[in-house]
Amino acid sequence: MTIIKVKDYNELSKKATEIIFDQIITKPNCVLGLATGSTPIGTYKNLVELYKNGKLDFSSVTTVNLDEYKGLAPDNDQSYRYFMNNQLFNHVNIDKKRTFVPDGLTDDADKTCKAYEELIDNLGGVDLQLLGMGANGHIGFNEPDDVFIPLTHCVDLTESTIEANKRFFNNRGEVPCQAYTMGIQTIMRAKKILILVSGESKAQALYDTIYGNINPQVPASILQVHHDCIIIADDAACSLLK
Ligand code: F6R
Repeated sequence: MTIIKVKDYNELSKKATEIIFDQIITKPNCVLGLATGSTPIGTYKNLVELYKNGKLDFSSVTTVNLDEYKGLAPDNDQSYRYFMNNQLFNHVNIDKKRTFVPDGLTDDADKTCKAYEELIDNLGGVDLQLLGMGANGHIGFNEPDDVFIPLTHCVDLTESTIEANKRFFNNRGEVPCQAYTMGIQTIMRAKKILILVSGESKAQALYDTIYGNINPQVPASILQVHHDCIIIADDAACSLLK
């Protein structure tokens, strides 16, 4: 793992933008694995800016998102499809038909999860996977567990994740308690991984990810064995590091 320590959220977004920019410039038809949540918002904003300034072309890029809430339609403003359209896809020249997010409304979860794996394989795998980190060390919606679940699956969200995510909803009761997520192996198959960690609430999870044993109770700890993983973390997230 390469750790890039930055001062604050702005620096983190700037550095992440540079890495994604390099990926698209060196391979215009790359496959980007994308994340939602608060952390990548600054990065997406910068990428939109680069596109608007004529410096970046998304016309050949394909994207696959990590996860989606179960039961939310794409036009629900809390769905991750809606988030991606709103934060990135609507503002750049990407072909929406080549942007993929798990189907939150499927009535055949197993089939949909299998199909998501096949899709990623057929695309030739993910070139660069962007990740955020949960305060409990989750990546995608791979929550702390007794085992690492390898492939795309439906997951019960933990109390702490529901609590953390309720800020986006009118009330806690509206937060879905299940989601579809790429599995740990799906994520680890990416050729390169870029994980963004911002804020003091992530400090313990970041510490455990870097210094702890590889342990499914801290899902991000598996990244220790990825051959090309970059962590960008701000001072607040690094506050427990030596
Ligand atoms: C989102 C995702 C999650 C978030 C994580 C951090 O697609 O997969 O793992 O990256 O919950 O969320 P924020 O950035 O809101 O702190």
